Amino acid sequence: MRETTPQPIYLKDYTPFGYLIDSVDLTFTLSPEATRVRSRIAFRPNPDASDTTFFLHGENLKLISAAIDGQSITPKLTDQGLTADAPNAPFVWEAEVEINPAANTALEGLYMSNGMYCTQCEAEGFRKITYYPDRPDVMAPFTVRIEGAEKVMLSNGNPGASGEGFAEWHDPWPKPAYLFALVAGDLINHPGQFTTKSGREVELNIWVRPGDEGKCAFGMEALKHSMKWDEDVYGREYDLDLFNIVAVDDFNMGAMENKGLNIFNSSCVLASPETSTDGNFERIEAIIAHEYFHNWTGNRITCRDWFQLCLKEGLTVYRDAQFTSDLRSAPVKRIEDVIALRARQFREDNGPLAHPVRPESFVEINNFYTATVYEKGAELIGMLKTLVGDAAYYKSLDLYFERHDGDAATIEDWLKVFEDATGRDLSQFKRWYSDAGTPRLKVSDDYSDGTYTLTFRQSTPPTPGQDEKPPRVIPIAVGLLGPNGDEVQATQVLEMTEEEQSFTFTGLAAKPTPSILRDFSAPMILQRDSSNAERAFLLAHDTDPFNKWEAGRALAKDGLIAMIREGASPDSAYLDAITAVARDDTLDPAFRALAMGLPSQDDLAQTLFDGGTTPNPQAIWDALETLRQARAQHMQDLAPRLYAQYQVEGDYQPDAAQSGARSLANTALGLITRLDGGAQAQRQYDAADNMTQQLAAFCCLLQAGKGEAAIAAFYDQWQHDRLVIDKWFSMQVVQAAPDQTAAVADALTQHADFTMKNPNRFRATLGALAMSPAGFHHASGAGYELLTDWLIQLDPLNPQTTARMCSAFETWKRYDAARQDLIATQLDRILATPNLSRDTTEMVTRIRG
Ligand code: PHE
Ligand code: ZN
Repeated sequence: MRETTPQPIYLKDYTPFGYLIDSVDLTFTLSPEATRVRSRIAFRPNPDASDTTFFLHGENLKLISAAIDGQSITPKLTDQGLTADAPNAPFVWEAEVEINPAANTALEGLYMSNGMYCTQCEAEGFRKITYYPDRPDVMAPFTVRIEGAEKVMLSNGNPGASGEGFAEWHDPWPKPAYLFALVAGDLINHPGQFTTKSGREVELNIWVRPGDEGKCAFGMEALKHSMKWDEDVYGREYDLDLFNIVAVDDFNMGAMENKGLNIFNSSCVLASPETSTDGNFERIEAIIAHEYFHNWTGNRITCRDWFQLCLKEGLTVYRDAQFTSDLRSAPVKRIEDVIALRARQFREDNGPLAHPVRPESFVEINNFYTATVYEKGAELIGMLKTLVGDAAYYKSLDLYFERHDGDAATIEDWLKVFEDATGRDLSQFKRWYSDAGTPRLKVSDDYSDGTYTLTFRQSTPPTPGQDEKPPRVIPIAVGLLGPNGDEVQATQVLEMTEEEQSFTFTGLAAKPTPSILRDFSAPMILQRDSSNAERAFLLAHDTDPFNKWEAGRALAKDGLIAMIREGASPDSAYLDAITAVARDDTLDPAFRALAMGLPSQDDLAQTLFDGGTTPNPQAIWDALETLRQARAQHMQDLAPRLYAQYQVEGDYQPDAAQSGARSLANTALGLITRLDGGAQAQRQYDAADNMTQQLAAFCCLLQAGKGEAAIAAFYDQWQHDRLVIDKWFSMQVVQAAPDQTAAVADALTQHADFTMKNPNRFRATLGALAMSPAGFHHASGAGYELLTDWLIQLDPLNPQTTARMCSAFETWKRYDAARQDLIATQLDRILATPNLSRDTTEMVTRIRG
């Protein structure tokens, strides 16, 4: 156990820093084990602050010297930072520190990745670079000088002087320290160029390791599309002469929006048809857009404190989703996002880690980069837009940018902008930010004499620290279908504000079928007793693509639950309805592929649990297998036809049209494999000239138990490419039979290419184990034990990634007593580890409850 329990910090305790900063000058003298950082910071007292303590954060720093106004001083040092006596007038702080980037395995602060220097400062990494008020409300213009022998030396902003052994940078835009970045190494650039709408010429670069230069073209195009889109849709222009993106292999997260110098996990920027799947391309495009969009929503307007994280993240996720919808297919993007929301955010909201979109306290902020802050945060923006309407939304955003440019803002500021622009009172809407938990929406209906009444009842189960949940305002998008399938009431947004509320529709010729929560207009769990017939009717006729998909999903889920709970056979209503959808060539192939997807094991486990049944992971896996087999049989004529019909001719393009066709053809291949034992999959594997085709075939072969040759061939072909080898690691774990999952993962950790220092590789192996429910929760407990062994080993090296992966255990209270005992033992083993990080301590303590 730790000697001192880390104390939480609270939103309500916010106070401004006692000093403002006019300028920051940093000089780095690079050396892998002993980099020197000299700082020269012009402070002045903050007239709005009452606390004048001069405290600078600093961790793992060796202080060489410190001075105030040229007078050498001896500050008081702790392991968190330093305090000194500061004059009550403007003054200059100077310090020199030494740091050791080569020893930095936490990948926070300045560290080395494949011999290259790079930084990660969000949320609180800058304090590992030098002494500084490392908080987002302290903003300053930075000037940086880098001294070193590296070929390329980059920092934020525009380039200044450079020459043999040095490079200087100046960022004119005041920024918080978390947006600072430095990169130095042997890098090659893929150049590009963009002219903004007001005529500013911007030089663009994607910087990569030699050998990766052929994987930059797609990212560059995505960047240009993003820059244009933000001008067209939000009126936001880029504000520097240069925009750099750097790919690094060792990175804890996806990417980082440092001002003018975005740093990406190489898996989130490098792309080529041979090495990346269609899904990878779509994700890369979205992440490039996300980081670029942060330039306005995050950088120009930042967060006052880390409790306001959703101010930049929720809004920026919402914006990148709009971008993907515009460039690709809006219904497909919405369905994909809701699948991910349910898988990650609903799961979080239902367990011991549930927290509000704007948390009120935390121990370690790194633990709050969550699906709730990001994805539910984005849902709140979508609801706000639905409630005020499109025109008022963009009017409010204009006011937000005008009023808060240059500010470190709060959720109160954000909502006030909407209130001022629209005249609405948003106090009830604010509950969505403060109250954790996924609301349930119970629906009942009534029809008589041409009048149809829908009655809704909302309730939210208690979450840790929050027992009472008053009603929220909910935009419920509803349409009505007549008996022949025609839409008799177009989509209308009902605004629910009370615990229970009814809405009526008049002048109807017959009892309609309701289509409720169209486009998933609010992040809730809809509870409506609905017949198979009604679900099949909506699947066939609903004009709202999301609800059409949802009807098919619900039909599949009801059938699976009956199979698991009552030993029922596969539901023929489902099999017939889904075959009709698969066959319907008027529907987008991408949509059909999504409609043929099945609810996840985790989703079924939660649904069983909510319905009072303790989920048995093996029984869930068995039911899914049985249904898949029955479906393959049911579609045995259709599948080969679809497979042939949707083969893509001509050059590979990662666009929506081609990827939709490949996705439907690969879904068909999955069905075919269940009947032919892998013959077709082997042919596709052998002929594949792109990773989408190759990986889909590889996956089918593994599933069919015919993967041995492909495992060897895949490795031989791709051993030089770390990102492809990550797929090789994870696919073997994910496709293993449940009683083999832990053993396969264990064997892979012994492979020469396994390293726990690379988060991508660690996640590809142990993360894949955690994401394979039947294998992870196998009754032997081997999955729990293996993951725990590795988390304990990783924690001293990389607390942030360790802590995130502890969420594998967040669903433990769903399961039977034997599994709960096994998990409790592992959680206690983690907590008993000497010197456990603050990150992991907080996560496991919360999960343990
Ligand atoms: N701010 C980054 C993003 O959302 C995510 C991130 C957080 C990256 C913390 C690194 C560390 O784009
Ligand atoms: Zn972000």
